[in-house]
Amino acid sequence: MPIVDRTPVAQRRNASVTAVVVTEKRVVAEGVVSLELSAAHGGRLPDWAPGAHIDVILPNGVTRQYSLCGDRWTPDRYQVGVLREPASRGGSAYVHDVLAVGDQIEIGGPRNNFALVPSPTYLFVAGGIGITPLLPMIRQADMLGTNWRLLYGGRRRASMAFVDELSAYGDRVTVAPQDEAGLLDLPAFLGDPRADTKVYACGPVPLLDAIERAMVGWPKYALRSERFVGHTNLSAASLTTFEVTLARTGVTVTVGPDDSVLDVVRAAGADVLSSCQQGTCGTCEVTVLRGTPDHRDAVLDDHERQAGDCMFPCVSRAHSDNLVLDL
Ligand code: FES
Repeated sequence: MPIVDRTPVAQRRNASVTAVVVTEKRVVAEGVVSLELSAAHGGRLPDWAPGAHIDVILPNGVTRQYSLCGDRWTPDRYQVGVLREPASRGGSAYVHDVLAVGDQIEIGGPRNNFALVPSPTYLFVAGGIGITPLLPMIRQADMLGTNWRLLYGGRRRASMAFVDELSAYGDRVTVAPQDEAGLLDLPAFLGDPRADTKVYACGPVPLLDAIERAMVGWPKYALRSERFVGHTNLSAASLTTFEVTLARTGVTVTVGPDDSVLDVVRAAGADVLSSCQQGTCGTCEVTVLRGTPDHRDAVLDDHERQAGDCMFPCVSRAHSDNLVLDL
């Protein structure tokens, strides 16, 4: 059974907000800046583990999630890498164009939906800015003396962040820009299925889909991935109507085909935090007391989905006629 290091439900709901100051901002690749953040009033920041992300609450009111990519053993500083998204809705564009050294902002978290589970061997696959959560994992895997390798793809070498830092690991790291090496050769990198290996992948959806296809035949739970957008899962349940009962008040509400569970339970008075509204950040997690959720998020792994004891109501729905939530 995998070790799961996801932040407990109650802690997520009460996720504290920390004031931080931007202490460094530098370009680390074409379209990518690295931010260093320190506590506004000095001292150490909340502890974290590889795979964790923080909510960055920008002065323009936009909140975005970014993976922590610095050294977890440096307790007074966080580092994040921010890609300028072509269709930025005010998050990455603000970070690139407006946010400056000395600015004070707030952060939420850290939260970890992508924890590094113990394994003698790791294979890491990164696409573009997906390298960021893998950097601290690689540091930890290396520090523990495990057997690990990284395959890192991107459009062009100049657009790939932290390549210099990774060069210190020598031939454990394969940097494969698409304009030099073509598409990543996943079958060659992954090799035959092995029980002693965990595969960690982060990057764009087509890459992660290709890895899932390449890993047919591997043991269950061998692959752990972090997606930038939720799974598109248009099963028949999205056409159905079901009921949700709020256990703490006894109120039962109806969720129609075009409603989100989050909107409906909020309208009924439930207090649920949310951020991404895409099933990727983990902020809106609620406990399921009865009923079968239809998971549409990109947070839970297969084992957690089967457990059925929590869900992300911004995107997830129900397979059963009624869900009882701890709200
Ligand atoms: S708000 Fe991000 S997972 Fe629901």
